[in-house]
Amino acid sequence: MIKEPAMNFEKKILCIGAGYVGGPTMAMIAFKCPQYKVTVVDINCERIAQWNSDDLPVYEPDLSEIVGACRNRNLFFDTDIEKGIKESEIIFVSVHTPTKAFGEGAGMASDLQYWEKTARDILRYSESDKIIIEKSTLPVKTAQAMEYILSSSNNAIHFEVLSNPEFLAEGNAIKDLENPDRILIGSHDTPRGIKAKDVLIDIYSNWVSADRIITSSIWSSELSKLVSNAFLAQRISSINSISALCEKTGADIKEVSYVVGKDSRIGSKFLEVSIGFGGSCFKKDILNLVYLCRHYGLYETADYWEGVLRINDYQKDRFVKNILNVMFNTLANKKICLFGFAFKANTGDVRESPAIYVAQRLLDEKAKLVITDPKALENAKREFLGINGDIEFIENPYDAASGCDAIAVITEWNIYKELDYDRIFKSMTKPAFIFDGRNILDHQKLFNIGFNIYSVGKQALSIFEKSR
Ligand SMILES: NC(=O)c1ccc[n+]([C@@H]2O[C@H](COP(=O)([O-])OP(=O)(O)OC[C@H]3O[C@@H](n4cnc5c(N)ncnc54)[C@H](O)[C@@H]3O)[C@@H](O)[C@H]2O)c1
Repeated sequence: MIKEPAMNFEKKILCIGAGYVGGPTMAMIAFKCPQYKVTVVDINCERIAQWNSDDLPVYEPDLSEIVGACRNRNLFFDTDIEKGIKESEIIFVSVHTPTKAFGEGAGMASDLQYWEKTARDILRYSESDKIIIEKSTLPVKTAQAMEYILSSSNNAIHFEVLSNPEFLAEGNAIKDLENPDRILIGSHDTPRGIKAKDVLIDIYSNWVSADRIITSSIWSSELSKLVSNAFLAQRISSINSISALCEKTGADIKEVSYVVGKDSRIGSKFLEVSIGFGGSCFKKDILNLVYLCRHYGLYETADYWEGVLRINDYQKDRFVKNILNVMFNTLANKKICLFGFAFKANTGDVRESPAIYVAQRLLDEKAKLVITDPKALENAKREFLGINGDIEFIENPYDAASGCDAIAVITEWNIYKELDYDRIFKSMTKPAFIFDGRNILDHQKLFNIGFNIYSVGKQALSIFEKSR
């Protein structure tokens, strides 16, 4: 039990949900606002124990320094949800909202059971008025459902619900939290709504300039988060779809995306080609948007956004089919090393990582897998619990690639750019193949070493292609 310092804090803030969003976001508030007491609670005791240890449950550059600076000073991680609710006047809710796996809306709609349970906990334990802040990404009108639950008791306590979606990008969370493009606060246009909104503006104003704090109605705020993620994913699918055309025509996707991105109306960000996006948010949020559109009878809009997901699946499928095709249409007993398992660089998160799909398809072809990743190996191991297949997990990339027939670059970790590929080539079975799913390696250099190189949206550099 941590002994808290006897200090008069200006505000007591609680966050329910100590995940990828709740932990880093509250750490930043505590770091920037030593005058507030910030407590993060979770039903997952193991996760809370990790937050209280040197081995945090989330890997993000600079996160451990921020947590280390304020933990047990004004930042606390706890499992006592009842106490947390009782003592706080401001409650962020940052529980997960995965895609529903059962019943009506299965595979499309958000599963709001975790969210509703927190609403009921807040109602049960509260003894005074509170501001409740939706941090989780939620379908439009969830705040209304929360208000119904919170006002379902006869007590005189008032709960004012705000929407404050989080826009951080995993792998860049601390920079995004410290210097956000925008903070969005949705509130009701009532005296109590405006007062609550001002309290939240006060918190962010400790380090975010006023021009970056945007206010809106609750419904616009909820929808803006879904739409932002849909637009980001759409850009990835757009460039990925063109990579298939580049491969057929001899155009080079790097050149095409450079030219397209130079148009200031378009911009260069999110035009990197890849084997497809992953992560816990993009797919879930687009499915949610599609479900919402269908619910309102907007079938054309729903189909349009669903196309973003179809292209993402197509891109992953193309990558695996290419490996099979290039390696003489059989992978049985061939050893393939996956460079990276995280869904992107600088995170240990593997949720919806394209690596999961690629690995499963390669196992279906009876390939042997070696998985390496600097931060995601433990999460990768968990993905394969109970799954049959010949899989090894090796952190050192040289050891991992040794004896393999092929390397597939899945995650754009910088370390993979800097390896000694002469050494790797010597240790591999010949002919040695590299499938660069992120186009991050120096392909000409690798070809000169002796590798056969296949990338996304570019012509192959391979002795087998020349002889075709
Ligand atoms: N991960 C991201 O990059 C990101 C970015 C922006 C927004 N979001 C959104 O933020 C929300 C949280 O995402 P996450 O990635 O942090 O999820 P997560 O799964 O990492 O964390 C959620 C946590 O909530 C806890 N929890 C669930 N029910 C609870 C309850 N009743 N009481 C207490 N704790 C409970 C879980 O144990 C878990 O630790 C989601 O809605 C997500 O869409 C995520």
